[in-house]
Amino acid sequence: MYNTIMSPINYGGILLKNRIIFAPTTMGLSEEELIQKLRAIGSGGCAMIIIGDVPVSSWSKEPSLYEPDGFAYYARLAEEVHETQCRICAQLYLSDSTAPDGRGGLRPIGKNELKDYIFRLPADELRKYAAMFGEAALLAQRAGFDMVQVLGDRMLGSLCSAIFNGRRDDYGGNVENRARFAAQCVRAIRSRFPGLPIDYKLTVRQENPHYGNAGVLLDEIPDFVPILERAGVTSFHVTLANHCGLDDVIPAARHPYFGAEGCFLKFCDVVRSCTELPVCGVGGLTDPDFIEEQLASSRMDCAAMSRQLIADPDWVSKVCGGRAERIRRCTRCNGRCVQGMMNQSGVHCRYDELPR
Ligand SMILES: Cc1cc2nc3c(=O)[nH]c(=O)nc-3n(C[C@H](O)[C@H](O)[C@H](O)COP(=O)(O)O)c2cc1C
Repeated sequence: MYNTIMSPINYGGILLKNRIIFAPTTMGLSEEELIQKLRAIGSGGCAMIIIGDVPVSSWSKEPSLYEPDGFAYYARLAEEVHETQCRICAQLYLSDSTAPDGRGGLRPIGKNELKDYIFRLPADELRKYAAMFGEAALLAQRAGFDMVQVLGDRMLGSLCSAIFNGRRDDYGGNVENRARFAAQCVRAIRSRFPGLPIDYKLTVRQENPHYGNAGVLLDEIPDFVPILERAGVTSFHVTLANHCGLDDVIPAARHPYFGAEGCFLKFCDVVRSCTELPVCGVGGLTDPDFIEEQLASSRMDCAAMSRQLIADPDWVSKVCGGRAERIRRCTRCNGRCVQGMMNQSGVHCRYDELPR
């Protein structure tokens, strides 16, 4: 009944045992709690876990691949996830909300300052930042990750966006120029690893009604996608762009526009129309019948879920084992997950205390 969900797929050169991916999710948990959660999700049967927010810079609040402790931390995540017969992917990102302060610390980049910050970044600096993606991918691979995802939000999303990028050099203006930095980041990885699968989290701005501010316009996707593909991307993970409300990119069921199951899949349709590469959908995916239908009709090749696998890590094993009715369905209340992230108490779920 769920044949497509259960079918393996060649995802940019590696084999995924089924079509379900744990979407990048920063958890704000201690190392031991995080490992427990990741092991539960891996053992529950999903094909790959994407670890969110792995910094390519050495100046970040998250553990750093460049430091021995940080490297050991990521190597441990990879080992623990692999023990559950699940693949692991590192989401490589570059922040546009903090920058080095020149004194060994970090300074915040305020929302009102972002456009000016992007405008003033020296082109040399951008080239150095792009090269860091190659360096970080090398370390991620050494730490045991099977693939990397380039986060097309944050710094990349701001440079792609005509809203934030008012540059007048080769990195600003037309679509080709706004895609230049993203393509350089991908190329920096590809030039070091001819065979490494590179997923790209493509983030989309929608107009009428307006949602998302970074990233690319729906109309710009047909120009962006081939540029990224030529640079070396092997799959696309498609969603709404950030620098809008958190409740828009992680929409609650009561959201006025993105409240429905599969709320961002219409963005996948546009990506699908301009590439043969695998496309992964994300956003409000919870229902096995709906997901099977979208996969079987080739609207997406994989389904990524964040909140649903937090609510029930056993989603895949229940679906594959004929126990779909036993799934603890995520109600997209954004209670203890998003709220937990916001108030820094760690990501949890209202179902946590109930038996699985
Ligand atoms: C608690 C939490 C943390 C998240 N952290 C990240 C992150 O680090 N990187 C990222 O790209 N997306 C992050 N997301 C967004 C998810 O990957 C996903 O796009 C979004 O939650 C919609 O999918 P869902 O409806 O399956 O939850 C996070 C989402 C949640 C709920």
